Amino acid sequence: MTVNAKTTATGGNTWRDLPAAQQPEYPDAEALRDVIADLESYPPLVFAGECDQLRARMGAVARGEAFLLQGGDCAESFDAVGADDIRAKLKTLLQMGAVLTYAASVPVVKVGRIAGQYSKPRSKPTETRDGVTLPTYRGDSVNGFAFTEEARIPDPQRLKRMYNASAATLNLVRAFTTGGYADLRQVHAWNQDFVKSSPSGQRYEQLAREIDNALNFMEACGTDPAEFRTVEFFASHEALLLDYESALTRVDSRTGHLYDVSGHMVWIGERTRQLDGAHIEFASKIRNPIGIKLGPTTTVDEALTYIDRLDPEREPGRLTFIVRMGADKVRDKLPELVEKVTASGATVAWVTDPMHGNTFEAASGHKTRRFDDVLDEVKGFFEVHKALGTHPGGIHVELTGDDVTECVGGGDEIFVDDLHQRYETACDPRLNRSQSLDLAFLVAEMYRNQ
Ligand code: PEP
Ligand code: CO
Repeated sequence: MTVNAKTTATGGNTWRDLPAAQQPEYPDAEALRDVIADLESYPPLVFAGECDQLRARMGAVARGEAFLLQGGDCAESFDAVGADDIRAKLKTLLQMGAVLTYAASVPVVKVGRIAGQYSKPRSKPTETRDGVTLPTYRGDSVNGFAFTEEARIPDPQRLKRMYNASAATLNLVRAFTTGGYADLRQVHAWNQDFVKSSPSGQRYEQLAREIDNALNFMEACGTDPAEFRTVEFFASHEALLLDYESALTRVDSRTGHLYDVSGHMVWIGERTRQLDGAHIEFASKIRNPIGIKLGPTTTVDEALTYIDRLDPEREPGRLTFIVRMGADKVRDKLPELVEKVTASGATVAWVTDPMHGNTFEAASGHKTRRFDDVLDEVKGFFEVHKALGTHPGGIHVELTGDDVTECVGGGDEIFVDDLHQRYETACDPRLNRSQSLDLAFLVAEMYRNQ
């Protein structure tokens, strides 16, 4: 892999001629140029071969042979780059993965919204509190969360902090997933702090016992596969800040193709998926597996054009449609898209994001989501695929390993009046650990009945 190859000559910067939505307005253009030059000299965070591996895994998802579990924070923050936080998120995803694999009997492709998810598109450019109006917070990669004029000025040095935070996070994730922590023999250990306090923890414990029995049985039969000792885990984030993403886009010397080596999979968000915009152009030049968020206004023509632009070879695994319609719209809007895309001969992976179409503001002013709406959107997604005979390929969720109170409902019954107790997200409300496990059990059940 050519580590320092510039992207300019080879197409990684063609997006610069096009309108790029949601980019920060840096007050100092020269400072930005210096940062980009430094980032271009930094080593890759992931390898091209790993991106190819994930593309192959997503191919299995697209063909109906595997299920995607993609989850993590709405917005990571620099303050939370610590072992405890990272382990808690990973633990939750590993537990959900175990539930889905065992209870739905399907291979689960595990992808974190992690190690790079620092940039946020916003619906409003400014925020007003008590008569004071300031630029909105756009993620730790852009400006500060504090509501002060100084904090909210976009600072390009934050792009370097994003790189460093991503590198540290990914390093620990790799250590956890290959260094023994993710060994299936640890299936109980992931739950230790949780089992007594929560009904979903207890339900999980039952499943963990069954997995243990199965492992003991296999061992007694003389087999102990290496696959049980480590977990294949990938990192993904929204490719929002194109200066950063293209500074980390490199030519792979094996193939001559461009890869965005800031993460294994990147996606284009609902607010930046304009067909004539910079983000789609950028994504069309890289070989990573690509996701596109599709909201309720997506037309069939748009979906087919994304396929032409991003997946001209019709390669299963290259393109994932992450559908985020809202519980009240998914049954209406999704069928035509799935039907026409399938009829076009393309094999994309269909994934549900049951979070972003179901956000509302509680009377207390907290942005929240109802667990029941999340569940209902997943149900709608499964119903549509069942009716069409297509594959419900996975879930994309915002979650944390901590006992936060950001979404209402779930087995632990969080009420609107509880939201203030532990509302910690830097952006959208996340499922807590118990809600995440509840969801995994319910999704496994839907998958089994599909
Ligand atoms: C997100 O995933 O945090 C997000 C902003 O989603 P969307 O682009 O679907 O609104
Ligand atoms: Co979000």
